[in-house]
Amino acid sequence: MLIAHITDLHIRPLGKPAYRVSETNALTERALDVVAALRPQPDALVITGDLTDCGLAEEYGLLANLLERIEVPVLLLPGNHDRRETLTTGLTLGPHAVLDDGFVQFSADLGDVRLIGLDTLLPGQSAGALCDKRLGFLEKALAGANCKPVVIFMHHPPFDCGIIHMDRIRLLEGADGFREIVARYPNVERILCGHHHRPITTRFAGTIAQIAPSVTHQVTLDLAPEGPATFHMEPPAYYLHSYRAGTGLVSHMAYVERYPGPYPFVLDADYPGAHA
Ligand SMILES: [Fe+2]
Ligand SMILES: [Fe+2]
Repeated sequence: MLIAHITDLHIRPLGKPAYRVSETNALTERALDVVAALRPQPDALVITGDLTDCGLAEEYGLLANLLERIEVPVLLLPGNHDRRETLTTGLTLGPHAVLDDGFVQFSADLGDVRLIGLDTLLPGQSAGALCDKRLGFLEKALAGANCKPVVIFMHHPPFDCGIIHMDRIRLLEGADGFREIVARYPNVERILCGHHHRPITTRFAGTIAQIAPSVTHQVTLDLAPEGPATFHMEPPAYYLHSYRAGTGLVSHMAYVERYPGPYPFVLDADYPGAHA
């Protein structure tokens, strides 16, 4: 089972780069072209929020057009830059979407794995939240997995990473409750997030929590105690998560941009194993 995972597209109206610099529409199109060309094709594409930069109907319309090239199921979550109402009217949500109480979430069984998507959007705020209703959805989806491997997707990471301005806007409300629930389910293979625009990994509640880089701009790697919130145009990247029974979930980060190669490994005669 193979999942392509991209995040933080920040689609803008035509002619308006995000923050006046990041050509997010072109960068997203390039990433989606790469996903569409993957061989083998993934079983699903998951996009963990900040689908648009401002949640405008025009932005979702542009994204809907870009997504037409994707032929596998697309599972979507909102981020703090999205608006639920325009998202749900502007995009076609897949059959796995669960819109209980207006939240945009999903629970999908793909092969041997259950994928759970949590809506961490708190309208008007940059930080994320999981209220009792959303935690209840998580609890129910975990209990219903009957011990099969689970991967949880959400926009806001539930842990501190040391980039201070991002830690201030991570999952705050409901983070303790989320940790307590996850800790009770050892079959949670991974927690996969967006929002921080960097590849970051840590141990969390007995499992592994991981943030995917953005397919557009990246947050500056600045671990100083106080630093300005800035971004760099570092190489956009995405994840391919592969699940195999007996091995578990293995995550490969891949760059969107093409680089020279592939080249064969032509062994030099000086190599210690050249004559084996
Ligand atoms: Fe973002
Ligand atoms: Fe975000």
